[in-house]
Amino acid sequence: MKHSGLLLIVTFIALLFSACNIEKESDYKMIKENFGEIDGKEVVLITLKNTNGNTVKITNYGATVVWIEVPDRLGNIENVTFGYETLDGYLNGDPYFGSIVGRYANRIAKGKFEIDGVEYNLAINNGVNTLHGGPGGWHSVVWDYEVIDKKGDIPVLKFTYNSPDMEEGYPGNMIAEVEYIWNDKNELHINYNCSTDKKTVLNITNHAYFNLKGAGNGDILDHEMQIMASKFTPVDQDLIPTGDNIVVEGTPFDFREPHKVGERIEEEYEQLILGKGYDHNFVLDNDKEVDAIVYEETSGRLMEMMTDQPGVQFYCGNFLDGTQTGHGSRAYNYRGGLCLETQHYPDSPNQANFPSWSLANPLSPVRFIGSL
Ligand code: BGC
Repeated sequence: MKHSGLLLIVTFIALLFSACNIEKESDYKMIKENFGEIDGKEVVLITLKNTNGNTVKITNYGATVVWIEVPDRLGNIENVTFGYETLDGYLNGDPYFGSIVGRYANRIAKGKFEIDGVEYNLAINNGVNTLHGGPGGWHSVVWDYEVIDKKGDIPVLKFTYNSPDMEEGYPGNMIAEVEYIWNDKNELHINYNCSTDKKTVLNITNHAYFNLKGAGNGDILDHEMQIMASKFTPVDQDLIPTGDNIVVEGTPFDFREPHKVGERIEEEYEQLILGKGYDHNFVLDNDKEVDAIVYEETSGRLMEMMTDQPGVQFYCGNFLDGTQTGHGSRAYNYRGGLCLETQHYPDSPNQANFPSWSLANPLSPVRFIGSL
């Protein structure tokens, strides 16, 4: 099978994209341009160009990935992730296209949790629940940035955000760092590193939407998906986990062998109706090198995802309706893109049986390496 590929490694999440034989360009390049201004802070767009000549564009608004271009099997380049041409797009109803999501990715039931008997109340933004850190989450702040360019190494684009104690209701001052590395194998590595001064919770992810035919080029129902997960966490009508783990075998959630996304998405299965399609946390087996593979036959593009996180939210754009338009004025339609949001399970702070995602050790900074 001839394909082209992309690898996403998240805190490691790595996205590896592969394709045809690639002529090497000259040097790795990094270009910075102005992308706007918010509250007196400059928003920039940084282009990373690897020696294959393939570019990734990232802005410090939400530490957001705006553009990832990779070749198809014939060498034709397309951008495969959703993004806007201007900052305005990100300020007007953006459904987290490519952004960093924090402090707590996914839902926290009723926006409440307890630590050591103290109840914390978060900003609510999804019915009665909190989604993706709240309305003022990390997707919507301007991050500081620096380029770490050690001789002989691929440069690291590093973003830092100082999140104050009780921001959106979360305890603890937190320093969040996100590093992006776009290397010559068309691998995008995303590393996270957070420290805090109080017991608190954390679940950080990247919310990129992918369409390997090209962003805005039809739906993703024909994409072949493989997820190395033997279980998933079922949800209620508000997409809050019930606390159970269900074995995927015999359900439309069994992607241990490749299946087209659309093959079973309309099956009468309560969990699919609740998520309006796939919008669920898959419990990763975490015993293989690669945790998910996406392949699109017409282009030959293939993406591999690797993570050290215990779960991944496989969301296939069920809430998109074409009102968001991005690069080249293309509309991002219903099920036009899919997300692989590597994460701890949703609502973990309220779910005793889920892997814990609390950061303890008050006053001694805790290093977030992805799998505490
Ligand atoms: C959630 C969806 C939600 C989307 C928001 C996903 O992570 O699982 O339910 O609609 O984010 O854009």
